[in-house]
Amino acid sequence: MNATAPIRRHFASDNYAGICPEAWAALAEANQGHAVGYGDDEWTQKAADLIREIFETHCEVFFVFNGTAANSLSLASMCQSYHSILCHETAHVETDECGAPEFFSHGTKVLLVSGPNGKIDPAGIERMVTRRTDIHYPKPRAVSLTQATELGTVYTPAELKAIWAKAKSHGLKIHMDGARFANAVASLGCAPKEITWQAGVDVLCFGGTKNGIHVGDAVVFFDRELAREFDYRCKQGGQLASKMRFISAPWLGMLKDGAWLRHAAHANAMAARLESRLRPRAQVKILFPRQANAVFAELPRPVIDGLHERGWRFYTFIGQGGCRLMCAWDTTEEDVDNFARDLESLL
Ligand SMILES: Cc1ncc(COP(=O)(O)O)c(C=O)c1O
Repeated sequence: MNATAPIRRHFASDNYAGICPEAWAALAEANQGHAVGYGDDEWTQKAADLIREIFETHCEVFFVFNGTAANSLSLASMCQSYHSILCHETAHVETDECGAPEFFSHGTKVLLVSGPNGKIDPAGIERMVTRRTDIHYPKPRAVSLTQATELGTVYTPAELKAIWAKAKSHGLKIHMDGARFANAVASLGCAPKEITWQAGVDVLCFGGTKNGIHVGDAVVFFDRELAREFDYRCKQGGQLASKMRFISAPWLGMLKDGAWLRHAAHANAMAARLESRLRPRAQVKILFPRQANAVFAELPRPVIDGLHERGWRFYTFIGQGGCRLMCAWDTTEEDVDNFARDLESLL
């Protein structure tokens, strides 16, 4: 890359990207005349119906402003304050939500499970649940899985079903943090139902922001009983948008002709391209299997510093360390090649 050229797109996060054209057009279309507030509008009804169509089941759908709220409020709806939630030690609900899941559930404890490549395995659940069964231990109630994971890997339907069997045997519900659910579906090439309700997921936090929407995640309750009074929980938590059509309309734009999967597949492909440039280099260690839109790599310190000096932004503190190189719906082949060329010149 020409070191003096401005870098327009980075590899720090998929939320660095702007709004994709389909979401933008849907926003503009919704921006006409007046519409009923607080979700009783046609955009919100249609977006929820489309989500039901995509998942091929009758589920309850709510739109909230962000992923932290989606996770926290849905987990709160699954748990009493004396319960516990099992999640991977690198899970966003544990590391990046400032205690919001515990806060909104009035004290439900998050218990950490380890496992390779950012994934929980059934044995980890067994260990954590059977470690203690006395009254002094916060009663395990839910397993929270992130799909795609914080380390850029993806649970297969078979892995999810194995977790479900274990969870069911202990009476645990399953929550899925799907901030990058679209990337997981695109990566697996499966139907959305295969990695959600057909694999035992009770609640999915379906991420829109990282997929190209300006703001907003959908909370999808496959276990509809858990959705009871969730609208009140959203309102109390400051998550009921008065101009709801501007949260829901972009979902229509994304879902109606498959833009959500096209954008996710593109981001995944850009990460694959980046990985293929980095993997052959002896001084670069790829840390986890690249299965979605992130590449995690260990780079020599002077290379990291050199890339930062050239203006590239990426994180070095996510998950278990290493550099997280995240691609978005708008990452171009040229962006990848420019970054790789700069990196190679510093090795
Ligand atoms: C795995 C995961 N879950 C949830 C979120 C949602 O977070 P936010 O509250 O910033 O929308 C993120 C965003 O970084 C994430 O990476």
